[in-house]
Amino acid sequence: MLSTRSRAVVEATLPTVGAHIEQIATRFYDHMFTERPELLDGLFNRGNQASGTQRLALAGSIAHFAQALVATPEQLPERLLSRVAHKHASLGLRADQYGIVHEHLMWAIVDVLGDAVTPEVAAAWDEVYWLMAYALIHQERGLYSARGVTPETVWREWEVVERRDETADVVTFVVRRADRRSVRTSLPGQYVSVLVTLPDGTRQPRQYSLTRADDGEHRQLSVKRVRGGDTPDGEVSNLLCDTVQVGDRLTLSVPFGDAVLDESGRPVVLVSAGIGITPMAGMLSHLVAAGSDLSVTLLHADLDEASFALRHQVLADVRALPGGRAYAWYERGEGDGLGLDGVFPGWLDVDAVELPAGATYHLCGPIPFMRAVREQLLTRGVPARDVQYEVFGPDLWQADAATEAS
Ligand code: HEM
Repeated sequence: MLSTRSRAVVEATLPTVGAHIEQIATRFYDHMFTERPELLDGLFNRGNQASGTQRLALAGSIAHFAQALVATPEQLPERLLSRVAHKHASLGLRADQYGIVHEHLMWAIVDVLGDAVTPEVAAAWDEVYWLMAYALIHQERGLYSARGVTPETVWREWEVVERRDETADVVTFVVRRADRRSVRTSLPGQYVSVLVTLPDGTRQPRQYSLTRADDGEHRQLSVKRVRGGDTPDGEVSNLLCDTVQVGDRLTLSVPFGDAVLDESGRPVVLVSAGIGITPMAGMLSHLVAAGSDLSVTLLHADLDEASFALRHQVLADVRALPGGRAYAWYERGEGDGLGLDGVFPGWLDVDAVELPAGATYHLCGPIPFMRAVREQLLTRGVPARDVQYEVFGPDLWQADAATEAS
């Protein structure tokens, strides 16, 4: 818990830190990567660093955390911490690396705010940083130990045994373990980090949802090409889609991710758009493997039927579930149905279909899509705590979603 003394100082300086957070984030990363360039090899996503807003995730989350500590000092923002801890653990982050971020972040705060950072102000923000850091270190230690790994053994080699073009832009890879270690079961909706070596020799990790339940031997993941320009954004996905073939080796982390299926026995509604189908495909496959008789409704939005990735697997799984139903919305027309329970033109509209009472909702897709769906659900009276979401990339939605009552 934040000390009373620091709480007053943090409260008084939050508006200034908040107003300068972009500048602080920029200075922080520039300074850190100049001093520690090795962090861009195998750990930080250089695609995120290239895009200004995404740099905000780490530094912004500390300001968000400080805000939460000031508002409710007795309670840590669990959802934020859990998401970050899973992401960190999927990258094999080590506890001793928190000292590096601390050094460069505090340097950036002083660099940007100058004399406003009195020793008292520095001490208060130091306390905020270490509260958050220890909460994360603690969770990450728990995540590693639950999987029987250490930061050094998170990574493992797999052999590609199948490669399927799902759509013009999405490729599915099935990989088989390349050693004798047993394959621990993933939870429905989890992802793995994939670590690749780029043509310039730099290693870069990215996260991809597992799109099929485990069978003790294989994992399946689906990757979307990023079109449009020469941005570092898609360099890993494009390399995977364009070059990886059957027989190649891939380096995958063990599975992580906290946006997993709620298996409390309540009806489940999955709402996805585009490549947001990937965690849903994993969840449906798990439900089929478990012989579930839950009521499960999939609502999916896409450009058209041909761009609906994993549609055959997903539809077969929905049909295999006694309580399964699936509906699609296509921006460019209606498609031939695929055996769906309903196909609609245009944007996804949750009011167009009957939804089970007391359901839990899982959302995945672009943030504006999820925002619109969440809004519709809340308007229908669905409690905010029953709406879970998964953001691909740094989650900058968190701050405003967390401020709404649940
Ligand atoms: C990602 C916060 C410490 C490396 C993130 C994200 C947040 C965050 C909010 C984005 C998660 C998402 O929504 O996807 C923090 C906080 C820290 C901390 C509050 C300290 C209290 C560290 C340290 C390292 C690190 C010590 C390593 C030196 C990363 C990396 C990512 C990440 C590599 C993935 C995204 C990217 O590559 O840009 N962190 N982090 N973080 N963090 Fe941390």
